[in-house]
Amino acid sequence: MKKRLIVGNWKQHPATLTDAKRLYQSIKTKASKAPQVDIRIAAPHTFIQPLTGGKKTSKPQIGVQDVSASLGGAYTGEVSAAMAANVGARFAIVGHSERRALGETNAIVNKKVLAALSAGLEVILCVGEQTRDHDGFYLGYIKDEIDSAFLGVLPRDLPRIVIAYEPIFAIGKTAADAMSGQDVHEMVIYIRKCLSEKFNRSRADATTILYGGSVEGTNAESILREGMVDGFLVGRASLDPQVFMEIIQFAKYT
Ligand code: PGA
Repeated sequence: MKKRLIVGNWKQHPATLTDAKRLYQSIKTKASKAPQVDIRIAAPHTFIQPLTGGKKTSKPQIGVQDVSASLGGAYTGEVSAAMAANVGARFAIVGHSERRALGETNAIVNKKVLAALSAGLEVILCVGEQTRDHDGFYLGYIKDEIDSAFLGVLPRDLPRIVIAYEPIFAIGKTAADAMSGQDVHEMVIYIRKCLSEKFNRSRADATTILYGGSVEGTNAESILREGMVDGFLVGRASLDPQVFMEIIQFAKYT
């Protein structure tokens, strides 16, 4: 079995560096009791250096929530993947639905994937449909997201990419609104099928696939068990070390 991966996505939280350090320290202490689980935190850019001390060895690993599609130059406000890597980031979330909602297209997501890989970062690629329809068009939507994100990605780079399946309608709600384990399982199978068409079956099977969308202590176990996912991308619940740890405990034993 693959090592379970639990990634906390802090989004635009917490408000201060002091709070960020406190939160990270609390997660770090608890995480040390779960060495079987790969735990990572995607923090706002300004907290990366203070949390990592500029080193790549920090544990839990620290990463960024986005990177620029360009490698450098006159792009006001952008932070390149190399800049993030230089201050200790190990991975980048790419294509989160909250970035896509701000205008990020599949083509931009593809550029960001390539930029992150070339800077030595691992990629957590988010895909997910806005809504469901009876005719299954949402499956084509997910396939498009995957196919375009992987343009130009070499087979040998696939192990450095994690896919986070995050149905947009389930993000930022409560456990009751999360997707059922059974529905998650269908999507995991479908995503592996898309990957095996692009690469091959064994590479597809080896890819880590996460679920994200209102994961809490109360639904983590059933989604892990029934959904056959390799872990979670956790938003809101990752800001509460107690709840985040409950999720990690399930990843340890389920
Ligand atoms: P949520 O966020 O856990 O708060 O739903 C997940 C995400 O947006 O990555």
